[in-house]
Amino acid sequence: MHTYKKLLENNKLWAKKSVENDPQFFSRLSEVQNPEYLWIGCSDSRVPPNEITGTKPGEVFIHRNIANMVVHTDLNLLAVLEYAVNHLKVKHIIVCGHYGCGGVKAAMTNNNFGIINKWIRNIKDVFRIHRSEINNLKEEDKLNRLIELNVIEQVTNLAKTSIIQKCWKEEQRPYLHGWVYGLKDGIINPVFEMGYEDHLDPIYEFDDL
Ligand code: CO
Repeated sequence: MHTYKKLLENNKLWAKKSVENDPQFFSRLSEVQNPEYLWIGCSDSRVPPNEITGTKPGEVFIHRNIANMVVHTDLNLLAVLEYAVNHLKVKHIIVCGHYGCGGVKAAMTNNNFGIINKWIRNIKDVFRIHRSEINNLKEEDKLNRLIELNVIEQVTNLAKTSIIQKCWKEEQRPYLHGWVYGLKDGIINPVFEMGYEDHLDPIYEFDDL
C-alpha cells in the first residue's frame, strides 16, 4: 500500500471516532468557526499546534512558515492577520518558535540555500540587531538564544502593523505572545508578551489610525 493511502484510512477512522465521542461535532463545526487564537508557527512537522496545546478543530486559526516569521511584505501573512483580527476577532496571537529550529540554524551560517536565502535573510537581520548579545554566549547557547530573540522580534513586528495598532486603540485586543517550544521535552517556554498598554519605539507608532 502506498504510504499516503494510510492517511486516508486514518482520516476515516478519525471522523468515525469524532462522531462517536460527540454526535454534533461536524454539524456544529461546519456552521461557523469562532477561534480565540491566531497561531503563527514554524512549518516544522514536529510542532503541530493543536496537538501540543490540547486544542481542537475550531479553536486555533493557523499560519505557518519557515521559522515563524512576521514579514511585512508577506501578503499571505497579512491576509491571515487581517482576517483573524478584524473578522474572527481573535483575543490572542501566539508566535511560537521552537528550540533547534533548522531555519534559524541556517540563518547563522554562510551557506547558499538558493531562493530560500531571501526568506532566511529576515532571520539574519534579527541576528545582526542582537549580534553582541549572541556573540557573548557559549557556542552551544547561541542558536537557542537567537530562536528566542527571533520570536520576540516577530511579536514586535506584529505590533508594528497598523492592523494591530488600530485594534489596540479601538478594542484593547489582541494580546501578543512569544513562545518557544522544546522538541526535547514538549514544553512551551513563554518568553515575551505585549498588549495594548505597551509601547514600541515611537518611530513605529502611527498617529492617524
Ligand atoms: Co523551525
